[in-house]
Amino acid sequence: MTESSTSASASTPATACLIRISKNFEHFADNIIFDLGATLTKRLGQEYFLLKCQNPQKMADSDAARYIRWNLEMNHAWPCRPKKMEDFLEKAAQALFQKFGGRNLQGVFIGILDPSSTHNPYKSLASNLRGRTLQLFTNELATFKDVEEQEPSALSLFCLVGKEGLYCGVRSPLQANGFYPGGTKFISQKASHTISRAGAKIAEALHYLKLHQPLPAKGSHWLELGASPGGMTSELLERGYQVTAIDRAPLDERLKGRKGLSFKKADVASYNPVPKTQFDSLLCDMNGDVQVSLKEVVRLSESLIPGGLILFTLKTPGATSFKECNSLYHEAMKSANAGGLEQIACTHLTYNRHEFTLFLKKTK
Ligand SMILES: C[S@@+](CC[C@H](N)C(=O)[O-])C[C@H]1O[C@@H](n2cnc3c(N)ncnc32)[C@H](O)[C@@H]1O
Repeated sequence: MTESSTSASASTPATACLIRISKNFEHFADNIIFDLGATLTKRLGQEYFLLKCQNPQKMADSDAARYIRWNLEMNHAWPCRPKKMEDFLEKAAQALFQKFGGRNLQGVFIGILDPSSTHNPYKSLASNLRGRTLQLFTNELATFKDVEEQEPSALSLFCLVGKEGLYCGVRSPLQANGFYPGGTKFISQKASHTISRAGAKIAEALHYLKLHQPLPAKGSHWLELGASPGGMTSELLERGYQVTAIDRAPLDERLKGRKGLSFKKADVASYNPVPKTQFDSLLCDMNGDVQVSLKEVVRLSESLIPGGLILFTLKTPGATSFKECNSLYHEAMKSANAGGLEQIACTHLTYNRHEFTLFLKKTK
């Protein structure tokens, strides 16, 4: 068993870090690692990169940070073949307890390095390892019914297991950029209310938002721009929100007559809310030019309450290089700031494609 790792050779000790980059941005992996000032040690699972970082702070504060779905500074790494070892589970659990017991952790969460395969034998290994580890940590940890009950700023032990071994670190969900090990909350796209893939995007965005602030209260009123066919609308209604949805294309028939929904079939540029209307939150998933969409968001934010939340899908398909993609973001933020909107967070979620989800709030 080896513990990771501070390099004795470099003048500043390097920290071993595991980062996750989605397949959608894999072609920027070299740029991302370079921007972090890191070097690649090896790839793990489908989307993980084990790095040596001189400045781990850059995982939260750099252009690269937006592309990092999830990250974990390594405090314990055991490269091995878990399925080939009879006593892996017990040895791993004992090692975790010896190393991290008494550290005042809020919880232990164990996921898998390769979450995409449906029949992954490591799923049950992760769950059994968590079960055994929790037995050893009895009375030391809070009991969570739901991973999202974690305090975002308190420390948890996150572990990932796969055919390459066991990789663990102590981070807060906020530092790691997600409540779940690996950052992904599985969202079924086969629920009875599912209308389009975009539903999973807003569902995941709302889970993610809880890292930064509480969700808008039930019953609060969303203005949604670019709503057709209605995947996001359906998710918002399902959560008990009111929605005023705008699109030049119609909504799916299944949304007809849904309580809490008002739909206007119109170009967003020609839409003006009834005077004195105040929305609590604004959602924009319009396709087309980012600056054109943002102009409408800024204009319509006049009808948002002070401090109102804005979720904006920053679509990047036209931007082919890392530099272009970053400029798109910086230009967008310039326009948003000039329009009185400030950033809460910007990240690439599992259910985003070549796009980021930008979380903004109205400053006044
Ligand atoms: C990616 S789709 C939205 C998917 C949707 N959010 C869902 O949950 O199913 C983008 C939508 O933006 C709409 N759109 C783009 N520009 C628009 C504009 N200026 N006015 C109205 N709708 C617009 C398109 O008609 C299209 O339906």
